[in-house]
Amino acid sequence: MTSTLSAAAIESERVVVRKARDADRDGLIEVFTDPEVRRYLGGPRPRAQVEGFLDHLGAVEGGYVVADRETDAFFGMLALAPRDPDLPGHVTPEGGELELSYVLRQAAWGRGLAFEATTAVLRAAARELPEQPVLVVTQAANQAARKLAGRLGFEEVDTFEAHDAAQVLAVAPLGSFRE
Ligand SMILES: CC(C)(COP(=O)(O)OP(=O)(O)OC[C@H]1O[C@@H](n2cnc3c(N)ncnc32)[C@H](O)[C@@H]1OP(=O)(O)O)[C@@H](O)C(=O)NCCC(=O)NCCS
Repeated sequence: MTSTLSAAAIESERVVVRKARDADRDGLIEVFTDPEVRRYLGGPRPRAQVEGFLDHLGAVEGGYVVADRETDAFFGMLALAPRDPDLPGHVTPEGGELELSYVLRQAAWGRGLAFEATTAVLRAAARELPEQPVLVVTQAANQAARKLAGRLGFEEVDTFEAHDAAQVLAVAPLGSFRE
């Protein structure tokens, strides 16, 4: 039982979570090609490949850009979208649960911006969507991502192997983000 969030933009104290714009292009290229950012995400993508799929990013359902609320400058990306049922890592038999993912450019790390943006999106989703589990899947080695999921209240429920790495599956009830 899932559907994606309808809001075009969600604001909180320091960030706006909104659809991608042309001005985000350099920031998006940076996060897909930065080896540090992509360390636990299968490594950097070749720039030419990134340029090829960027034009379609704005239209991705459940996919958002995280930007500075004052200047609109790009901080990173966030998605709340159904997890592919064919991938490992599910908590319902049918799969397709909402999955939260987050990627910030390095300059935006360590300021609580990912926490703020994800909290705002999960609260908006909790207001709008029916009760359901939300997933976070990260590499076990990705301490920053696991820490963020833990701070948001996600509970680690399973581990599995994928892409030659140990993965952690964490889950939280959407209702836990209802204010
Ligand atoms: C995962 C990722 C988004 C986490 O970013 P982050 O900035 O560490 O996450 P948060 O927004 O929760 O910020 C927490 C950090 O900000 C610090 N902080 C500073 N000011 C803060 C504030 N006002 N509020 C909260 N935290 C604050 C915290 O102390 C914490 O630092 P610490 O980890 O050194 O203790 C980032 O590491 C990233 O983009 N990684 C690469 C992509 C990736 O692997 N994504 C996971 C895929 S699911």
